[in-house]
Amino acid sequence: MPDTRSQVEEAVAFIRGRSDKQVRIGLVLGSGLSPLVEALADADKFPTQDIPHWPRSTVEGHKGEILLGTLAGVSVAVLKGRVHAYEGYDLGEVTFPVRVLARLGIRALVLTNAAGGINRDFGAGDLMIIADHLNLQCASPLRGPNVKEWGPRFPDMSEVYDAKLRTLAKELALLQEIEVHEGVYASMPGPQYETPAEVRMLKILGADAVGMSTVPEAIVARHMSLKVLGFSVISNLAAGIADHPLSHEEVMEAGARMGPMFSAYLQSLLPRIDQTLETSA
Ligand code: HPA
Repeated sequence: MPDTRSQVEEAVAFIRGRSDKQVRIGLVLGSGLSPLVEALADADKFPTQDIPHWPRSTVEGHKGEILLGTLAGVSVAVLKGRVHAYEGYDLGEVTFPVRVLARLGIRALVLTNAAGGINRDFGAGDLMIIADHLNLQCASPLRGPNVKEWGPRFPDMSEVYDAKLRTLAKELALLQEIEVHEGVYASMPGPQYETPAEVRMLKILGADAVGMSTVPEAIVARHMSLKVLGFSVISNLAAGIADHPLSHEEVMEAGARMGPMFSAYLQSLLPRIDQTLETSA
């Protein structure tokens, strides 16, 4: 079994050997949501393929880069492009970047993804704040020896997505007249999209949206005591609800369409998140 802890420290040392920028909030950008990086001021950029032990993304639209810079006056670390379990990685590898971000010093993590809408009130192009999740990856990123310097063996998951940050996110959406829902995100292994029967099952289980990411990252972030906020961009209605077959192109297009609005919204939210970190320090 690889020594994940020393691999994480080697990746951190690589970045820290080239950038001394402090970072307070981490952002993981999902499918088609990467235009946000253009708003980053004086960023230090690292193609993830240069970083030791960093898993390589193999999916189109998920080019890996980590950027340390300033967004809306807040010091951030942005992950452009994530890796997924369906690419062949185990969940320890999938969550390696989150471990690195935590060791770089972030205190809060904002996770974003594109997801299929299951809740009948949702439409393509809506935004959902993740209230809770279903881990249907059939595995845990915490499997294996626990690193107690990182967190406990049996971490609590009663409030993965920080209630205070969710309230802030809702208030701000309301102010900006952005249609926002709150709901449960189900994380499926993929890469195939769901069948209509699977979507009916997910609905019975309490899911409002479905995707193939985010949950392992949220679990690891909580293991390391980071505050977590999660957003799903509803790129399509889930299988059996949509009246047409699903495609990666549709998901990428929806991300691109919503990118500018979502980027502006996230930028207005970042200073507010930062303030909560100050007061709870
Ligand atoms: N299912 C799973 N993952 C997804 C979907 C979906 O409908 N849309 C975007 N990612």
